[in-house]
Amino acid sequence: MDALTFLRSDHQSVLGMLEVLDGAPTGDGAHRSGLDTTVTNLVIAESQHEAIEEQLFWPAVRAALDEGDELADHAIAQEQDGKKLLQQLENGTPGENGYAAALAAFVGAAREHIRYEQEVVWPRFKEAVSAEELEKLGGLLEKAKKAAPTRPHPHTPSGPGAQMTLGAAASIVDHVRDAATGRAHDNPPDPPRP
Ligand SMILES: [Fe+2]
Ligand SMILES: [Fe+2]
Repeated sequence: MDALTFLRSDHQSVLGMLEVLDGAPTGDGAHRSGLDTTVTNLVIAESQHEAIEEQLFWPAVRAALDEGDELADHAIAQEQDGKKLLQQLENGTPGENGYAAALAAFVGAAREHIRYEQEVVWPRFKEAVSAEELEKLGGLLEKAKKAAPTRPHPHTPSGPGAQMTLGAAASIVDHVRDAATGRAHDNPPDPPRP
């Protein structure tokens, strides 16, 4: 599958979750609403998605485009802000002080980030690379996602080297913890592919 089709199906799945979370209850009801599970699904999906973009997609954008560094730096800054909010959600409990505000901030920021990638970055990237390159990158993304961390790790540096080494170590710990707690079972990480 080509890289942009692969990333788009991740985005579709995240946008679907954001839609559900848009009308999420706040206060006391939030705790009883199953919001926890939806947010955990979102944390897993987003953590894996941004990690593989940082390992593979942004380095490819930097290499392919003259303005690649600028585009990648802007997107990675958005991703870092998003990870901090996700970490707040991961540490917090629905209904708790500040939780609803962090969730609302994440929903808005994530939509803007997806819009930036799809409308600003992708058209330029697609112009600059061949169909074969897109296909090859898609294969690498797909493979990397299986080993990607399931938690946000906002303090792990976002460069490709750090993501490959520190990110990989964090990912192993995440997967062990997921297996031990049953989190992986309750929250299957992958959306259906087209
Ligand atoms: Fe991203
Ligand atoms: Fe993305």
